[in-house]
Amino acid sequence: MPDATHSFDALMDITARPKTVFVRGEGAWLWDDTGKRYLDFIQGWAVNSLGHSPPAVADALAAQAKRLLTPSPAYFNDASLKLANALVNQSCFDQVFFANSGAEANEGAIKLARKYGALHKNGAFEIITFEGGFHGRTLATMSASGKKAFEPLFEPKVPGFRKAQLNDLASVEALITQSTVAVMLEPIQGEAGVWPATDQFLQQLRELTKAHGLLLIVDEIQTGMGRTGKLFHYAHAGIEPDIMTLGKGIGGGVPLAALLATEKAACFEHGDQGGTFNGNPLMCAAGLAVLDEVGKPSFLKSIAESGLFLESELQKLSARHGLGEVRGRGLLLALDLKLPIGPALVAQAFESGLLLNAPQADALRFMPALNVSREEISLMIDGLDAILTKAGAARRVA
Ligand SMILES: Cc1ncc(COP(=O)(O)O)c(C=O)c1O
Repeated sequence: MPDATHSFDALMDITARPKTVFVRGEGAWLWDDTGKRYLDFIQGWAVNSLGHSPPAVADALAAQAKRLLTPSPAYFNDASLKLANALVNQSCFDQVFFANSGAEANEGAIKLARKYGALHKNGAFEIITFEGGFHGRTLATMSASGKKAFEPLFEPKVPGFRKAQLNDLASVEALITQSTVAVMLEPIQGEAGVWPATDQFLQQLRELTKAHGLLLIVDEIQTGMGRTGKLFHYAHAGIEPDIMTLGKGIGGGVPLAALLATEKAACFEHGDQGGTFNGNPLMCAAGLAVLDEVGKPSFLKSIAESGLFLESELQKLSARHGLGEVRGRGLLLALDLKLPIGPALVAQAFESGLLLNAPQADALRFMPALNVSREEISLMIDGLDAILTKAGAARRVA
């Protein structure tokens, strides 16, 4: 039975949510307070890298909580030093600033680029971002985003963001002026519906930014931490950006994010950046547990393999139901529905105990735990197959 004591009114009504209350999670599964079980292919929006409440993260949190919660950011702590070193050792970056959310990490990236412009480029401050891009919900990151629905909101926006077209180098080139300091993009635009930048475009962007003395910032909040089969997506293109942001999967379910920069770009001076909870040992302990597992070459290989399996199963499903392409990489994939039926499918899937996401009305996005099994992928495909069959029959009747 549902818990009748739940009162929903005390929470701000910021989005439409089913009046279901989740109380437990394990791996690929979530349970609500009636005991109903759901197969989860959202995983907190690509957050739970190792699934719900993985023992490695739960144990690391419990051990750290008993040892030290936070000494304050005015002092060093061992967990944040270990995690920063591990990230630096496994990436092309030299320094890390830890944040509490993806938006905060991106704010840091924007500030760092502006600081670089002030120090090295005569005060250049403009950042070229992309139509369809999503970088968060603070004022600056909304301004950096190219999400149409954000355009009329919270005016005036933070100035200094000019929007180019993804995979169109000329559109970037056309926006470069004396005021430009950086180019910032998601290697795969997630919220826009999983639209990948090609490896070639990333390589061309790297060359272009180098030629103009601009910083290249990759927002890997969704694509980083193994999601696309490499620890960081930029490695697919064989490039080395100047700045990268991480979030979501790095904490394995807890609020942790990071801003990484090369020595050249890491130009903050005392007082430029900080925050009460930044780099607190509790979250960094979770990050270490996640990186320990996800950073293993065998684990990364298994993500790529699971991604290929999911992709081929989705392609077969698409062919059976006359749907469109499957796009994305690794375990960040979308199925083009060709019709605006995404929200209806998501609602039906929810009823049947399957959690799916439609970032756009005509696309479903799949972002399971990185350790999702083939059986769980097959179960999801079977569930979606049944829903699509029903929806197809309904369309034929109507
Ligand atoms: C690419 C990208 N950047 C930034 C963000 C913002 O992260 P957060 O919601 O943790 O602030 C998101 C969240 O969906 C994202 O997908």
